[in-house]
Amino acid sequence: MENKWGCWALLKWGVRGACKSSASRNSAKTIPRTSLVYDAATETRYLNASNRELCPPNEAQLSSDNPDPPPTGNKSPCQLLQFTFQELKSATGNFRPDSILGEGGFGYVFKGWIEENGTAPAKPGSGITVAVKSLKPDGLQGHREWMAEVDFLGQLHHPNLVKLVGYCIEDDQRLLVYEFMTRGSLENHLFRRTIPLPWCNRIKIALGAAKGLAFLHGSPEPVIYRDFKASNILLDSEYNAKLSDFGLAKAGPQGDKTHVSTRVVGTYGYAAPEYVMTGHLTSKSDVYSFGVVLLEILTGRRSMDKKRPSGEQNLVAWARPYLADKRKLYQLVDPRLELNYSLKGVQKVSQLAYNCLSRDPKSRPTMDEVVKVLIPLQDLNDLVILSYHSRLSQQARRKKKSEGTQQHRNASSKSIRDSPLNTGKQRCR
Ligand SMILES: Nc1ncnc2c1ncn2[C@@H]1O[C@H](COP(=O)(O)OP(=O)(O)OP(=O)(O)O)[C@@H](O)[C@H]1O
Ligand SMILES: [Mg+2]
Repeated sequence: MENKWGCWALLKWGVRGACKSSASRNSAKTIPRTSLVYDAATETRYLNASNRELCPPNEAQLSSDNPDPPPTGNKSPCQLLQFTFQELKSATGNFRPDSILGEGGFGYVFKGWIEENGTAPAKPGSGITVAVKSLKPDGLQGHREWMAEVDFLGQLHHPNLVKLVGYCIEDDQRLLVYEFMTRGSLENHLFRRTIPLPWCNRIKIALGAAKGLAFLHGSPEPVIYRDFKASNILLDSEYNAKLSDFGLAKAGPQGDKTHVSTRVVGTYGYAAPEYVMTGHLTSKSDVYSFGVVLLEILTGRRSMDKKRPSGEQNLVAWARPYLADKRKLYQLVDPRLELNYSLKGVQKVSQLAYNCLSRDPKSRPTMDEVVKVLIPLQDLNDLVILSYHSRLSQQARRKKKSEGTQQHRNASSKSIRDSPLNTGKQRCR
């Protein structure tokens, strides 16, 4: 029987080899790499599709168009499965529309099932549940990012990075197979669901995502993630956060170098201003993006929201004055949390976001420092609702004394006691 476990060296050789033949229509050989026309055409089309256009690439800043060689540390070479297109078609019930988990710039993501040992499709509900990302078969840029994903996620393993199970490369087809993340993306929970995400879950997610970034930055050959945003943070059944989408990841500066120069890609509203302006990329660009996501977690607002009034569309610009003024901090808190958040937690998270969003990259904390700040916030018990209740009962006791009745207490605390978040703390652990 054919060995389905792709060994790293073979995979890399095979993928790049296959890329040559199957992508020959778009081959970079036929269009000079340094051509701005080539870059503008492929880049703009792709970035528009994925809503990630930041600015026209500056030719002088362009480094190689190939994805960076993956770091050699943390290697675990022989763990990716190579699927056939037919296997994945069957695993997802012919890519049935009702198994679509989401859609991104690359294409649709489907839910599917595979047998436990190997690549054979399994009946829905049996074997292992996977998420199958199918790239629109329409271009070199998609292929390039597909390859970067296989390169990076094939080698980097950490509890806060999503697990890549395998891949499929067949003619024009490019697919990726991931572990299935039961609760979908943070973006869904913050902005689409009707039930608001409890405060303690928000902290848990921020911490998990921070650990993922700290791992990337701290490895012997650091990796800059470059696309940190709410839709790329996936959640398992217990709200453990895992980073997905390494298509834009980049090897960090080596030796004496302070930054890498590169084309500017990412997502509007999340990318660090100095990176957008100069193309100079450092791990502090990720820290800035982390600050933006932290603000989204705190406020329940999107980093960019065209539906809001003009002064409120850009989250960072809107929030900065509040972050800088302790007395105004509470106006930032997601109103859907009502009073179910920690007072001290909000102060610490706001301060952390403020530091991460510093205009001077050097003043931003490292992701290790961010993790250290977030860890103790998991244990804070000073929910505003608790002090509110104790104030209410004090008032009621006083009233009872004077009126001899406790009717008022029941009525006045009802709305908050009935809040869906009132038991949020218990749900977190
Ligand atoms: N491993 C997974 N498990 C469960 N759901 C997933 C998984 N991967 C992706 N999804 C779902 O599919 C959606 C689309 O993901 P995708 O990464 O393709 O696009 P995106 O992150 O929304 O946008 P972009 O293309 O700009 O990165 C996600 O928001 C998520 O809801
Ligand atoms: Mg994504």
